[in-house]
Amino acid sequence: MFDEFGFPRDADSDYAAPILGTFVYCSRAAEGVDDAEVGRIIEWSQRRNVARDITGVLVFGSGVFFQWIEGPPAQLEKLIASLHGDLRHHDIVTLDRSVEKRSRLYPNWEMELVGADDIRAVLQEALESAEDENNIAALRRILEHLDSGPVDTLHPFATKR
Ligand SMILES: Cc1cc2nc3c(=O)[nH]c(=O)nc-3n(C[C@H](O)[C@H](O)[C@H](O)COP(=O)(O)O)c2cc1C
Repeated sequence: MFDEFGFPRDADSDYAAPILGTFVYCSRAAEGVDDAEVGRIIEWSQRRNVARDITGVLVFGSGVFFQWIEGPPAQLEKLIASLHGDLRHHDIVTLDRSVEKRSRLYPNWEMELVGADDIRAVLQEALESAEDENNIAALRRILEHLDSGPVDTLHPFATKR
């Protein structure tokens, strides 16, 4: 199980994996938040996330945000607090919030594109497993919003490190 230096022999072991915080949510963009504003959010986020060792994905389409963020738990907590106070979006629904020992899903990306169909599937799945009434109501509102108009072309805000 361990070699003579005390390290696990198993190559697939997550022995070296860091303690990582994850926050996944969706929200609705506030009125007036357009492509230019989202561009500013992205520009800001890329700079800040590098400094905080945070990686992840942001999707914006049809007035809906979906974001996957991962990083050191303390840094992530600060960002989550900022996100909740940010008036550029509302109806924030937490899809996942956890701290565990694992390697990153997006180690090299500050932002990566997720297709519109994927957002709908993720939200639908979240609705099916949601128990909190407020989350269920907010998820329904977001899905209705998505279904009420054509899904815009998503913006490939993808920048590799
Ligand atoms: C949809 C959305 C996603 C955001 N993503 C990030 C992000 O990944 N990293 C970041 O630093 N700020 C992000 N922000 C901006 C933060 O909410 C906040 O405005 C910024 O971090 C400054 O907050 P502070 O002054 O409390 O540090 C995002 C804002 C919105 C509306």
